Amino acid sequence: MLKLVLANDEKEISQKAYEIMEQEINSKDDVTLGLATGSSPEGIYELFRTKKPKTNHVTTVNLDEYLGLEGTHPKSYRHFMNEKLFNHLPFKETFVPDGAHPISGEEAAKEYDAILNDHPVDLQLLGIGENGHIAFNEPGASFDAGTNVTDLTESTINANSRYFKTKDEVPTQAVTMGIASILKAKKILLIASGEKKAKAIKELIELAPTETMPATALKNHPDVTIVVDKKAASLLNEKQLKQYSKMSS
Ligand code: GLP
Repeated sequence: MLKLVLANDEKEISQKAYEIMEQEINSKDDVTLGLATGSSPEGIYELFRTKKPKTNHVTTVNLDEYLGLEGTHPKSYRHFMNEKLFNHLPFKETFVPDGAHPISGEEAAKEYDAILNDHPVDLQLLGIGENGHIAFNEPGASFDAGTNVTDLTESTINANSRYFKTKDEVPTQAVTMGIASILKAKKILLIASGEKKAKAIKELIELAPTETMPATALKNHPDVTIVVDKKAASLLNEKQLKQYSKMSS
């Protein structure tokens, strides 16, 4: 079941999403948060850094990592998470897939599934790619997959090249939680802002679950909250806005 929460802008998205995460953290003694990278969650992590909620009882599992990048590499997702969040708050344990596994990416994926098994996710934070990808599950990814090694599409490489000096430096593969792993989370929180995400949000609302649009898998989950700003919601009509927003009240 999808619930839509409308925010005015990116700042308000971060505020609303932070509140949902904080509530989850405070709800019990042992919590596992699923975390995401990308620019969308940056405002949320900034709120964590300033508000400093209690996190000693919180384990985190991240969605994905570029294949071939060590955790110390400045563009790795492990490095991003350390810089934005983990170096600032005392978490119980933090997990990110190993993009530079000494044996292979497949081995890293297998080990990550074992970690996920031991740490069922209470609340999973998600961004969304312009082509509808979640984590690094690109169009065509199987809804039944656990953690796996995947090729990145041209659209994703282009979008993520803004973090690298040149497009050629963007890794072409990643280790990512699969759609099936993501759907195991008890609750899911997806955030999207800006016009670039409007088409993906429209398709997510309008399409029946289909592997050609990965985010539509979320329609098979019982508890998904989508926090979007006006620009990301700009292709939705009044009826859709009313129908999905009503579910959140
Ligand atoms: C990357 C990540 C995704 C993220 C997406 C959108 O490809 N693997 O987890 O949701 O980008 O990123 P952004 O929030 O920067 O638009």
